[in-house]
Amino acid sequence: MTHMRVNDLRAYYTVEQNGLPKNIRAVDGVSFEIEEHDFLAIVGESGCGKTTLAKVLYGALDPVLSIVSGSVHYAFDDSEFEISPVQNTLPKAWWKKISYIPQGSLSALNPIRKVGQIFRDLLSSHNVPFEIKDVENHLKLVNLSEQVLGMYPFELSGGMKQRVVMALATFLNPRMIIADEPTSALDVVTQRDILWLLSFLHLSKQISFVFITHDISLIPGLASSVAVMYCGCIVEYGPVDEVFSKPLHPYTKFLLSSIPRIGDKTEKKPIPGAVVSLINPPSGCRFHSRCPNKTDTCENSRPNMIKVGSGRHEVACWLYK
Ligand SMILES: Nc1ncnc2c1ncn2[C@@H]1O[C@H](COP(=O)(O)OP(=O)(O)OP(=O)(O)O)[C@@H](O)[C@H]1O
Ligand SMILES: [Mg+2]
Repeated sequence: MTHMRVNDLRAYYTVEQNGLPKNIRAVDGVSFEIEEHDFLAIVGESGCGKTTLAKVLYGALDPVLSIVSGSVHYAFDDSEFEISPVQNTLPKAWWKKISYIPQGSLSALNPIRKVGQIFRDLLSSHNVPFEIKDVENHLKLVNLSEQVLGMYPFELSGGMKQRVVMALATFLNPRMIIADEPTSALDVVTQRDILWLLSFLHLSKQISFVFITHDISLIPGLASSVAVMYCGCIVEYGPVDEVFSKPLHPYTKFLLSSIPRIGDKTEKKPIPGAVVSLINPPSGCRFHSRCPNKTDTCENSRPNMIKVGSGRHEVACWLYK
């Protein structure tokens, strides 16, 4: 069953620049689908719009961020929800059907509430009674002892805080979790433990994940599908093994060639050029100014996603027309 269908989504920030309103086109024509039990990773360099996409997928809009066109449709067993320029019904599904772990969520735990009180706050806001045994059992699932309930967030290590965040996100049994860079503030050993926990929750509780990262090396062994994002757009999408073994988009190839491997003595080259502006994005393919394969077509027309190979592998690049 399709869980989430994103249809030509555009979401812009409106800001003032030199006294004039300007649009930051952080999500600019994004389409993809997530099936039930999928684990999708969204990867791209800093500033390409990943967090904005996560916020919009969760229907967490704010006064400067609005959906300009397109939609996100969610279908769960017994209910459907829609986010579009005219409606946003997803907040009704928050925590119970879908949870969101925002970027930097470790520092977002209320510093003056003990963990037990944070659980009580969550449950009372959903009219769910606080049963201590249920909470303790749930903490065990994420490998935390009940002692954390009496502790303040500042008394916890980064890994423990991330486990508390995961316990809160999963407590009301959601079917999907959007996790934005959940491990980027952690050391590599703790990072590995948390990635293992995500996998465990995915498999044991059948939760679908949208996992957002700037680090493409975290994806194999964790995600089943990957979406590569560049400058507000998805440029490649497909099963992880296929995209990693046969990357098609020149940007994906650059990202993959930047992964360090033991014994690999080849020189690691940075991606040429700088990240481009989302206020005045390049015409045509947004990657053309940095692409070694660019032609005139690339400068003038934006490529659509086309299916290649297995049929689930898609790329937006004129090389494959
Ligand atoms: N609240 C905001 N108001 C205005 N512009 C914003 C806001 N948040 C983000 N932006 C801009 O939107 C663009 C995309 O930002 P976003 O945070 O979505 O990128 P990202 O891919 O998540 O980056 P990172 O990997 O650093 O987290 C950037 O140009 C950023 O400056
Ligand atoms: Mg981000």
